[in-house]
Amino acid sequence: MDEVTFKSDTVLSDVHLYTPNQRHLMVRLNGMGQPVFLSQFKLLWSRDSWTHSGAEDSGPRDVATQETSPAGSESGHSHEDLSLQAGDDITIQERLNVPLDEDGDLDVVRRPRAASDPNPAEPARNKVHPMILAQEEDDLLGDEEQENCPHSIIKIEHTMATPLEDVGKQVWRGALFLADYILFRRDLFQGCTVLELGAGTGLASIVAATMAHTVYCTDVGTDLLTMCQRNVALNSHLAATGDGVIKVKELDWLKDDLCTDPKVPFSWSEEDVRDMYDHTTVLFAAEVFYDDDLTDALFNTLSRLVHRLKNACTAILSVEKRFNFTLRHLDVTCEAYDHFRASLDSLEKLADGRLRFMVEPVEASFPQLLIYERIRQLELWKIRVEPTA
Ligand SMILES: C[S@@+](CC[C@H](N)C(=O)[O-])C[C@H]1O[C@@H](n2cnc3c(N)ncnc32)[C@H](O)[C@@H]1O
Repeated sequence: MDEVTFKSDTVLSDVHLYTPNQRHLMVRLNGMGQPVFLSQFKLLWSRDSWTHSGAEDSGPRDVATQETSPAGSESGHSHEDLSLQAGDDITIQERLNVPLDEDGDLDVVRRPRAASDPNPAEPARNKVHPMILAQEEDDLLGDEEQENCPHSIIKIEHTMATPLEDVGKQVWRGALFLADYILFRRDLFQGCTVLELGAGTGLASIVAATMAHTVYCTDVGTDLLTMCQRNVALNSHLAATGDGVIKVKELDWLKDDLCTDPKVPFSWSEEDVRDMYDHTTVLFAAEVFYDDDLTDALFNTLSRLVHRLKNACTAILSVEKRFNFTLRHLDVTCEAYDHFRASLDSLEKLADGRLRFMVEPVEASFPQLLIYERIRQLELWKIRVEPTA
């Protein structure tokens, strides 16, 4: 395959942009005849320095790790930082050190276009991309690194530039963002039973399994789930020491019940269904809010699941706020995100007398242990579900 081609109905995750020479990328064709690539995601952690004690704040020590509500000062600047007192001898211009023209107007220096400017004023945006394995060389990170730190590398098979119905075969930035939060909140996952909805390639589930006892990694479609299962096998050495296990299962938000027909691939055994309802305490999902009907289906599924769980639970949802220009509005909007937020509001207001849902945004100040561009549009939402007293 000489080059990746893009048709009008294909989408490409930012995570897979900037891949170098594509000639060596492909490792196989999947059941649908789509080229499959193998990428490595390096975890910037030293597993040896972690104790698996389960204490809430016992993540890596070298980075600020306080989880607080974003209602406060999001940028880290207080209003005091920027205030200028009346009567100061120093002018605003002198304080802020901004240039004015001869009439006293602000002299705005235009940012040079990166490509045409040999000495850009700002550093170029990082091109963040996964390591791509060459078929012949097998390992760009080198055998030595693999051998020395096998617990730092997550290998993920994925496709690229898929049609919308196959987006789960790519890795999305929100999955890396969610994975970072999972690593930060290991107290929530340690030794627990957890369930991922719309897991795609399974990256977040694989990270969760480094701490959890059982991860139900769910999505829909045999081809996708087969790829996910392969990724689970590729990373089995990362699972929590002892008895951590990932069970790849079909869970279709458009169906009311879990499939327990043993003839159907990735169906649930009666024992798994019982175990999942009896023990799950965390549900999580990344980048599953891109179609309003699917968002409704996902929230219905979430509600159905939590009503059947034996225990109180926490749901963690990651979303990237994507802006699009629409002809209908003749403006830039983020409709899918707005619908997601409206669904969160409805869930919080749901008063069925049995459960209450407490929704809160999570500030993105937790450490970044995976390499990706943590853009402002990435958001995490936490829903605490408890029985009404
Ligand atoms: C954009 S992908 C995100 C995949 C993965 N969470 C990630 O962030 O890399 C959306 C996921 O939702 C899944 N999905 C879509 N419709 C679904 C349904 N009806 N039931 C279950 N999963 C569904 C897709 O198969 C896909 O894996």
